[in-house]
Amino acid sequence: MCGIVGYIGRNSAVDILLDGLTSLEYRGYDSSGIAVNIDGKVQLYKAAGKLQNLKDIVEKNYAEISKSTIGIGHIRWATHGAPTVENAHPHSCNCGKLAVVHNGIIENFKELKEKLEKQGCTFRSQTDTETVAHLVASKFSQTHDLTEAVRLATKEIEGAYALCVIHQDVKDTIVATRRNAPLVVGFGDGENFVASDVPALIQYTKKAMYLDDNQIVTLTPDSVKLIDIDNNPVVQKVEMLPWEPVALSKMGYKHFMLKEIHEQPDVVRNVLSGKLRAIDEPIVLKEVTLDREKLKDLNRIQIVACGTSLHAAMVGKYLIEDFCGISVDVEPSSEYIYRKTITDKNTLVIGVSQSGETADTITAVRQAKSKGSHILIVTNRPDSTMAREADSLIPVNAGIEVSVAATKSYMAQLISFYLLAIYIAEVKGVNDLRDLKHELIILPQKIEKVLAHKEDIQQCARKFSGSKDFIFIARGINFPTALEGALKLKEISYINATGYTAGELKHGPIAMLDESMPVLSILMSGKVYDKILSNSEEAKARNARMIALTDSTDPKLNELFDCIIRVPEISEILSPALAVVPLQLLAYYIAEFLGKDVDQPRNLAKSVTVE
Ligand code: AGP
Repeated sequence: MCGIVGYIGRNSAVDILLDGLTSLEYRGYDSSGIAVNIDGKVQLYKAAGKLQNLKDIVEKNYAEISKSTIGIGHIRWATHGAPTVENAHPHSCNCGKLAVVHNGIIENFKELKEKLEKQGCTFRSQTDTETVAHLVASKFSQTHDLTEAVRLATKEIEGAYALCVIHQDVKDTIVATRRNAPLVVGFGDGENFVASDVPALIQYTKKAMYLDDNQIVTLTPDSVKLIDIDNNPVVQKVEMLPWEPVALSKMGYKHFMLKEIHEQPDVVRNVLSGKLRAIDEPIVLKEVTLDREKLKDLNRIQIVACGTSLHAAMVGKYLIEDFCGISVDVEPSSEYIYRKTITDKNTLVIGVSQSGETADTITAVRQAKSKGSHILIVTNRPDSTMAREADSLIPVNAGIEVSVAATKSYMAQLISFYLLAIYIAEVKGVNDLRDLKHELIILPQKIEKVLAHKEDIQQCARKFSGSKDFIFIARGINFPTALEGALKLKEISYINATGYTAGELKHGPIAMLDESMPVLSILMSGKVYDKILSNSEEAKARNARMIALTDSTDPKLNELFDCIIRVPEISEILSPALAVVPLQLLAYYIAEFLGKDVDQPRNLAKSVTVE
């Protein structure tokens, strides 16, 4: 949520800043800006809307801007103030000599603003960030030391932030700091970098250092100095990033989302690799460091997550309860953190997050940690803030996911939950799950078959793309699939879509049904098949337009459904990992027909670092 990047060195800064912002675009994209130093003067360039608008401004002034060898940049997801040019970062102070970019929320900005206004500061934006610009400038006028000015300012700031600051009186210096928002420093030769996330650095350097909360870093072209908020020098681990420079390429696909949907067979193979070696061998899950005896005796698990990760967690609950007989609670992190939870040292708490940066989930796992619980993190980003809270860490290895709508990371989370549930069942010595293991191994081929018939889904999408609303129904282990299908459709097409347990339909939602309402029934073979069929009949009797997603070949379905999306036969217990793929494609094609911005839907960001 908001991306920041900084460069200081001997090369022109502007291209590095724009490249960095391009790779951070997943964090927000409603406005952007850069600050550079041209002929000894800090200059700001800002644009509302997509990053391309900023690039166009830069292009017109390139000869001037490219002179600067220092700069900071920002891509915004608005929290305080509309996405206008005035509210775009960087922000400056009255004298215009300082520029600051910020990711996070300054919670006490109103109090600070009042105080600063009394001191004569004039505010030009509606943002919380502008208070930081004035505050640091005021500290600088007292200290004439930019690091000290930032340090003193952070003592007064409450909330979450990653900040980068430059000042024209302190040439060749960037000061950056963080609290509850990510920041990573990249080391070059005669140049240094700072950014919200690794993709902004990786084409320039693999040598990096993650900042911890309340650390302040001072970068010059040849040095990186770190102190804590009390001015003590700090030594932080410098590591080699295990990333290859990521060509953010769509590989011939029209959108990243479509490419990422197609990567799912390989994602499944990757997640299984080394962990599920043969159906007669136990699952290898060295990542779970909880003592086996403790695992055997465990009688309570809590899982916290948001959005799509929450849906994966809901499937995880079903599996762990079914295979292992352990009671599992799943809760949105944002709810978990504001109530009294029954969490203690005997509770295993699992945090699930694609980005590992979701503020609500980080707060939830920290709360659980303070109560002595073992923290297991399931994430696609083993280098994230959340991963660093983990006692046990399961990296899901889906590879970088660019599209804001999560697809392959959901698949990787699901498969990780299958492995975890089987692993716990095997440690406990309950249940023979060899059939499921066999099915997991052949799952990638079944997903490939679904992808090979995507034209059928495209046709169905065309037929229903004019709908204003959509209902998804399912029961049992596919209820989360219905929620995920509805979420995907909402996120990228802005159609009002809701997932219901099919049995609940008659308790209220059925009132909405008429000939304008599509109802998609997730009708996978198994113990709830007949029940969902009856619920679908009830919907049909109210004239709803019926779509089936099914592995059944029963010809009678043709009478009931206007459109049938068929997937290969699969056991009910594994069906969520197959059934979600056509739903991702359906959402994709509907959004595409409607001409929506599939990879960067309005109002969203890939990494939600504010509560
Ligand atoms: C997924 O399509 C969404 N963009 C969103 O719901 C996401 O899953 C949620 O914000 C949680 O993110 P996380 O997995 O990175 O924690």
